[in-house]
Amino acid sequence: MIFDKININGISLNNRLMVSPMCQYSANNGKPTRWHYNHLANLLNTGAGSIIVESTAVSKLGRITNKDLCLYNENHKKAHKKLINKLKKIKDIPIILQISHSGRKGSSEIPWIKKNSPLKGSKSWKTLSASPLKRDLGWPLPKEASRSEIKLIINQFITTAKLAFESGYDGVEVHIAHGYLLHQFFSPISNYRKDKYGGRLNNRIRVILEIFKGLSKIKKNKKILGARITGKDHLRKGLKEEDCIELIRKLAKLKLDYACISSGGILPKTNLKFKRGFRVNFSSKIKSKSKVLISSTGEIYPKKYVESILKEKKVDLIAVGRKFISRPKWLLGDTTINKKYKKIPKQYLRCF
Ligand SMILES: Cc1cc2nc3c(=O)[nH]c(=O)nc-3n(C[C@H](O)[C@H](O)[C@H](O)COP(=O)(O)O)c2cc1C
Repeated sequence: MIFDKININGISLNNRLMVSPMCQYSANNGKPTRWHYNHLANLLNTGAGSIIVESTAVSKLGRITNKDLCLYNENHKKAHKKLINKLKKIKDIPIILQISHSGRKGSSEIPWIKKNSPLKGSKSWKTLSASPLKRDLGWPLPKEASRSEIKLIINQFITTAKLAFESGYDGVEVHIAHGYLLHQFFSPISNYRKDKYGGRLNNRIRVILEIFKGLSKIKKNKKILGARITGKDHLRKGLKEEDCIELIRKLAKLKLDYACISSGGILPKTNLKFKRGFRVNFSSKIKSKSKVLISSTGEIYPKKYVESILKEKKVDLIAVGRKFISRPKWLLGDTTINKKYKKIPKQYLRCF
């Protein structure tokens, strides 16, 4: 049920709802701005048991846009530390940072300036990917990542995770979904390499496993190690649940605590159909074959539906995104929730 507590590697979450990571494209030189302070403080008071902070770049090249949040140097660390200190004073719930490399989805224009468009002009940059394949017509060709670039990227993920732990984040979530770099390696749609990082599944997940080997060494008690993983590509020749299950099986041996199952995004063309809980069934199938906690995301709403999924133990956790912003009180404002479980700030008690 929603308000059942859960312990992840020594950290207690007071319920099963996580705020799903949501890019804000509002950073200043990679650092959080006043927007982040307000945005995250608002999310703290929605009643969610934990927050996953937006996709944060592990390098300058790994940004989606030039307004992305970043964490790869001491300056960034100082700024993240200040943010976490402030947020924890408002409400002390676990805060996890999603860490990512955009690959061929990098050098994009900010979506509200121009949706799904490459950045033009002097501020754009040359992207890289598993293979030199465009993300779509009209996009520049990425460079195929060399072996030394792959090594660098592996180290960058490890460094960012280390900086995140030092900044006070309770965990990191590695982004292996939505068509970003690690998904580009994982999917046969975007990886045509002939070396040990391409071809069969074991090769396509090699870079991910090498990152997790490093992460497992720096992970301590009371730090959460998660991943957002694509459960399927929704394309005939793309990734299937079985591939995701195999990846999770291997990551479980490298100290993965939870996997949030998402899907789609490797190409603009897709057979994915958005409807209520469209990922729940395959997330549940993945859970039945996995030894780590499984979360799901994608139109999992309203509360009654959320409760039914958790009651039937289809997944362990649920990441909700948009509703925590468009209807911030959808969880706490619902009077059908047993009052004793309510986690309302005392200043707001009279309002419910
Ligand atoms: C504004 C916005 C930004 C997003 N940014 C991210 C992100 O940084 N990382 C990620 O994994 N998913 C991102 N997503 C996807 C959400 O985390 C979530 O999985 C998706 O919106 C489906 O859940 P929902 O129906 O509860 O919103 C974003 C979604 C939105 C609407």
